[in-house]
Amino acid sequence: MRKLVVGNWKSHKSLAEAHDFVVALNALLQEGDEAWIAPPAPYLASLAASPQNASTIRWVAQQVSAYGRGAHTGEFTADMLVSCGVRAALVGHSERRERYGESDDVVREKAMRSLEAGLIPIVCVGETREEREAGSAFERVEYQLKNALSALPKGEIWVAYEPVWAIGTGLTATPDQVEAMHAHLHEVLRALRSDVPPILYGGSVNPANVVELFSVPHVDGGLVGGASLELESFVQLVQAGR
Ligand code: PGA
Repeated sequence: MRKLVVGNWKSHKSLAEAHDFVVALNALLQEGDEAWIAPPAPYLASLAASPQNASTIRWVAQQVSAYGRGAHTGEFTADMLVSCGVRAALVGHSERRERYGESDDVVREKAMRSLEAGLIPIVCVGETREEREAGSAFERVEYQLKNALSALPKGEIWVAYEPVWAIGTGLTATPDQVEAMHAHLHEVLRALRSDVPPILYGGSVNPANVVELFSVPHVDGGLVGGASLELESFVQLVQAGR
Protein backbone atom coordinates (compact mmCIF):
# COMPACT_ATOMS: atom_id res chain seq x y z
CA MET A 1 0.00 0.00 0.00
CA ARG A 2 1.12 3.53 -0.77
CA LYS A 3 2.79 5.21 2.20
CA LEU A 4 1.69 8.58 3.54
CA VAL A 5 4.55 11.06 3.38
CA VAL A 6 4.08 14.28 5.33
CA GLY A 7 6.70 17.02 5.17
CA ASN A 8 6.77 19.28 8.22
CA TRP A 9 8.53 22.50 7.26
CA LYS A 10 8.35 23.93 10.78
CA SER A 11 9.48 27.60 10.75
CA HIS A 12 11.36 27.48 7.45
CA LYS A 13 11.04 29.07 3.98
CA SER A 14 9.60 32.34 2.73
CA LEU A 15 6.31 32.38 0.82
CA ALA A 16 8.18 32.78 -2.47
CA GLU A 17 10.43 29.82 -1.65
CA ALA A 18 7.39 27.77 -0.73
CA HIS A 19 5.70 28.54 -4.07
CA ASP A 20 8.87 27.71 -5.99
CA PHE A 21 9.07 24.39 -4.16
CA VAL A 22 5.47 23.56 -5.11
CA VAL A 23 6.02 24.33 -8.78
CA ALA A 24 9.17 22.21 -8.88
CA LEU A 25 7.59 19.40 -6.89
CA ASN A 26 4.57 19.24 -9.18
CA ALA A 27 6.86 18.75 -12.12
CA LEU A 28 8.39 15.68 -10.46
CA LEU A 29 5.37 13.95 -8.97
CA GLN A 30 3.55 11.23 -10.85
CA GLU A 31 -0.14 10.53 -11.10
CA GLY A 32 -1.17 8.77 -7.91
CA ASP A 33 1.67 10.14 -5.77
CA GLU A 34 0.55 11.57 -2.48
CA ALA A 35 2.62 14.34 -0.97
CA TRP A 36 1.39 16.04 2.17
CA ILE A 37 3.09 19.25 3.28
CA ALA A 38 2.78 21.28 6.46
CA PRO A 39 4.18 24.74 5.60
CA PRO A 40 4.14 27.73 7.96
CA ALA A 41 0.47 28.57 8.58
CA PRO A 42 0.44 32.02 6.92
CA TYR A 43 1.17 30.37 3.57
CA LEU A 44 -1.52 27.70 3.65
CA ALA A 45 -4.37 29.53 1.90
CA SER A 46 -2.12 30.88 -0.81
CA LEU A 47 -0.42 27.54 -1.48
CA ALA A 48 -3.67 25.58 -1.50
CA ALA A 49 -5.20 28.06 -3.97
CA SER A 50 -2.14 28.17 -6.22
CA PRO A 51 -3.02 27.32 -9.82
CA GLN A 52 0.22 25.36 -10.06
CA ASN A 53 -0.86 23.12 -7.24
CA ALA A 54 -1.68 19.62 -8.45
CA SER A 55 -4.18 17.62 -6.47
CA THR A 56 -1.26 15.37 -5.53
CA ILE A 57 -0.09 17.90 -2.95
CA ARG A 58 -2.30 18.03 0.12
CA TRP A 59 -1.95 20.68 2.78
CA VAL A 60 -1.47 20.16 6.47
CA ALA A 61 -1.43 22.68 9.32
CA GLN A 62 1.38 22.36 11.85
CA GLN A 63 -1.14 23.02 14.60
CA VAL A 64 -4.75 24.04 15.18
CA SER A 65 -6.72 25.76 17.92
CA ALA A 66 -8.27 23.75 20.74
CA TYR A 67 -11.21 26.17 20.60
CA GLY A 68 -13.92 27.14 18.16
CA ARG A 69 -14.49 30.66 16.89
CA GLY A 70 -14.43 33.37 19.54
CA ALA A 71 -12.17 35.80 21.38
CA HIS A 72 -8.94 33.79 21.06
CA THR A 73 -6.29 36.19 19.80
CA GLY A 74 -3.73 34.55 17.59
CA GLU A 75 -5.55 31.24 17.24
CA PHE A 76 -6.90 29.72 14.05
CA THR A 77 -9.71 27.22 14.18
CA ALA A 78 -10.09 23.90 12.44
CA ASP A 79 -12.97 25.16 10.29
CA MET A 80 -10.88 28.16 9.17
CA LEU A 81 -8.18 25.76 8.03
CA VAL A 82 -10.73 23.67 6.14
CA SER A 83 -12.00 26.84 4.44
CA CYS A 84 -8.42 27.48 3.25
CA GLY A 85 -8.21 24.06 1.60
CA VAL A 86 -6.29 22.36 4.41
CA ARG A 87 -6.90 18.62 4.84
CA ALA A 88 -5.10 17.69 8.06
CA ALA A 89 -3.45 19.16 11.14
CA LEU A 90 -0.62 17.98 13.35
CA VAL A 91 -1.67 17.84 16.98
CA GLY A 92 0.68 17.19 19.87
CA HIS A 93 3.96 17.51 18.01
CA SER A 94 6.66 17.21 20.66
CA GLU A 95 7.92 20.73 19.95
CA ARG A 96 4.43 22.05 20.69
CA ARG A 97 4.13 19.87 23.79
CA GLU A 98 7.50 21.00 25.15
CA ARG A 99 7.53 24.68 24.23
CA TYR A 100 3.89 25.71 24.03
CA GLY A 101 2.27 23.67 26.76
CA GLU A 102 0.32 21.28 24.54
CA SER A 103 -0.72 18.84 27.26
CA ASP A 104 -2.42 15.52 26.59
CA ASP A 105 -5.76 17.14 27.37
CA VAL A 106 -5.11 20.00 24.94
CA VAL A 107 -4.09 17.45 22.31
CA ARG A 108 -7.43 15.68 22.76
CA GLU A 109 -9.33 18.96 22.41
CA LYS A 110 -7.42 19.83 19.25
CA ALA A 111 -8.10 16.40 17.79
CA MET A 112 -11.78 16.78 18.69
CA ARG A 113 -12.08 20.22 17.05
CA SER A 114 -10.31 18.88 13.96
CA LEU A 115 -12.63 15.91 13.58
CA GLU A 116 -15.70 18.09 14.07
CA ALA A 117 -14.52 20.35 11.23
CA GLY A 118 -13.60 17.49 8.90
CA LEU A 119 -9.86 17.98 9.28
CA ILE A 120 -7.74 14.86 9.79
CA PRO A 121 -5.92 15.15 13.12
CA ILE A 122 -2.42 13.67 12.93
CA VAL A 123 -1.90 12.82 16.58
CA CYS A 124 1.80 12.84 17.45
CA VAL A 125 3.08 10.72 20.31
CA GLY A 126 6.57 9.79 21.44
CA GLU A 127 8.80 9.24 24.42
CA THR A 128 11.81 11.29 25.55
CA ARG A 129 15.29 9.85 25.80
CA GLU A 130 14.93 9.65 29.60
CA GLU A 131 11.68 7.72 29.28
CA ARG A 132 13.24 5.26 26.85
CA GLU A 133 16.28 4.77 29.05
CA ALA A 134 14.04 4.27 32.07
CA GLY A 135 12.14 1.54 30.18
CA SER A 136 8.86 3.46 30.19
CA ALA A 137 8.60 4.31 26.47
CA PHE A 138 5.69 1.94 25.76
CA GLU A 139 3.77 3.04 28.82
CA ARG A 140 4.25 6.74 28.01
CA VAL A 141 3.24 6.47 24.38
CA GLU A 142 0.25 4.28 25.18
CA TYR A 143 -0.88 6.83 27.75
CA GLN A 144 -0.56 9.70 25.25
CA LEU A 145 -2.51 7.79 22.66
CA LYS A 146 -5.32 6.65 24.95
CA ASN A 147 -5.68 10.10 26.44
CA ALA A 148 -5.88 11.73 23.03
CA LEU A 149 -8.15 9.22 21.34
CA SER A 150 -10.39 7.52 23.84
CA ALA A 151 -13.31 9.98 23.77
CA LEU A 152 -13.07 10.90 20.11
CA PRO A 153 -15.95 10.31 17.74
CA LYS A 154 -15.64 8.30 14.54
CA GLY A 155 -13.74 9.93 11.73
CA GLU A 156 -10.41 9.85 9.96
CA ILE A 157 -7.41 10.12 12.27
CA TRP A 158 -3.74 9.40 11.72
CA VAL A 159 -1.15 8.70 14.38
CA ALA A 160 2.53 9.64 14.20
CA TYR A 161 5.03 7.89 16.44
CA GLU A 162 7.94 10.27 16.87
CA PRO A 163 10.50 9.40 19.53
CA VAL A 164 11.52 12.82 20.83
CA TRP A 165 15.19 11.82 20.94
CA ALA A 166 15.15 11.10 17.20
CA ILE A 167 13.63 14.41 16.06
CA GLY A 168 16.09 16.71 14.34
CA THR A 169 19.00 14.86 15.92
CA GLY A 170 20.05 12.62 13.04
CA LEU A 171 19.38 9.69 15.37
CA THR A 172 16.77 7.31 14.00
CA ALA A 173 15.05 4.61 15.97
CA THR A 174 16.28 1.22 14.76
CA PRO A 175 13.89 -0.87 12.64
CA ASP A 176 13.50 -3.21 15.64
CA GLN A 177 12.55 -0.34 17.93
CA VAL A 178 10.13 1.01 15.35
CA GLU A 179 8.61 -2.41 14.73
CA ALA A 180 8.07 -3.07 18.44
CA MET A 181 6.45 0.31 19.07
CA HIS A 182 4.28 0.29 15.96
CA ALA A 183 3.04 -3.24 16.73
CA HIS A 184 2.18 -2.08 20.22
CA LEU A 185 0.40 1.04 18.99
CA HIS A 186 -1.51 -1.01 16.45
CA GLU A 187 -2.83 -3.23 19.24
CA VAL A 188 -3.76 -0.25 21.40
CA LEU A 189 -5.54 1.39 18.47
CA ARG A 190 -7.40 -1.80 17.60
CA ALA A 191 -8.86 -1.85 21.07
CA LEU A 192 -9.82 1.84 20.86
CA ARG A 193 -11.29 2.18 17.39
CA SER A 194 -12.99 -0.06 14.88
CA ASP A 195 -11.25 1.91 12.11
CA VAL A 196 -7.55 1.43 12.95
CA PRO A 197 -5.75 4.64 11.90
CA PRO A 198 -2.54 4.64 9.88
CA ILE A 199 0.60 4.98 11.98
CA LEU A 200 3.41 7.15 10.62
CA TYR A 201 6.98 7.08 11.90
CA GLY A 202 8.85 10.34 12.42
CA GLY A 203 12.36 11.17 13.59
CA SER A 204 15.24 11.81 11.20
CA VAL A 205 13.64 9.99 8.27
CA ASN A 206 15.80 10.60 5.18
CA PRO A 207 16.43 9.10 1.74
CA ALA A 208 19.08 6.76 3.18
CA ASN A 209 16.84 5.11 5.76
CA VAL A 210 13.35 5.51 4.31
CA VAL A 211 13.17 2.25 2.36
CA GLU A 212 14.09 0.21 5.42
CA LEU A 213 11.71 2.16 7.66
CA PHE A 214 8.83 1.85 5.20
CA SER A 215 9.32 -1.91 5.09
CA VAL A 216 8.69 -2.27 8.84
CA PRO A 217 5.27 -3.81 9.59
CA HIS A 218 2.63 -1.27 10.64
CA VAL A 219 4.66 1.67 9.37
CA ASP A 220 2.13 3.37 7.12
CA GLY A 221 4.20 6.41 6.24
CA GLY A 222 6.57 9.05 7.54
CA LEU A 223 6.38 12.47 9.18
CA VAL A 224 9.50 14.23 8.01
CA GLY A 225 11.12 17.47 9.13
CA GLY A 226 14.64 18.23 7.88
CA ALA A 227 14.56 15.98 4.79
CA SER A 228 11.32 17.57 3.57
CA LEU A 229 12.93 20.97 3.09
CA GLU A 230 15.06 20.00 0.10
CA LEU A 231 13.15 19.17 -3.06
CA GLU A 232 15.39 16.29 -4.06
CA SER A 233 15.25 14.47 -0.76
CA PHE A 234 11.51 15.04 -0.34
CA VAL A 235 10.83 13.60 -3.78
CA GLN A 236 12.90 10.54 -2.91
CA LEU A 237 10.76 10.01 0.17
CA VAL A 238 7.54 10.28 -1.82
CA GLN A 239 8.98 7.86 -4.39
CA ALA A 240 9.90 5.41 -1.62
CA GLY A 241 6.25 5.46 -0.59
CA ARG A 242 4.95 4.35 -3.99
P1 PGA B 1 13.06 15.44 11.59
O1 PGA B 1 11.69 16.02 12.20
O2 PGA B 1 12.67 14.63 10.40
O3 PGA B 1 13.87 16.66 11.24
O4 PGA B 1 13.67 14.60 12.66
C1 PGA B 1 10.56 15.21 12.30
C2 PGA B 1 9.42 15.99 12.92
O5 PGA B 1 9.65 16.84 13.78
O6 PGA B 1 8.24 15.77 12.56
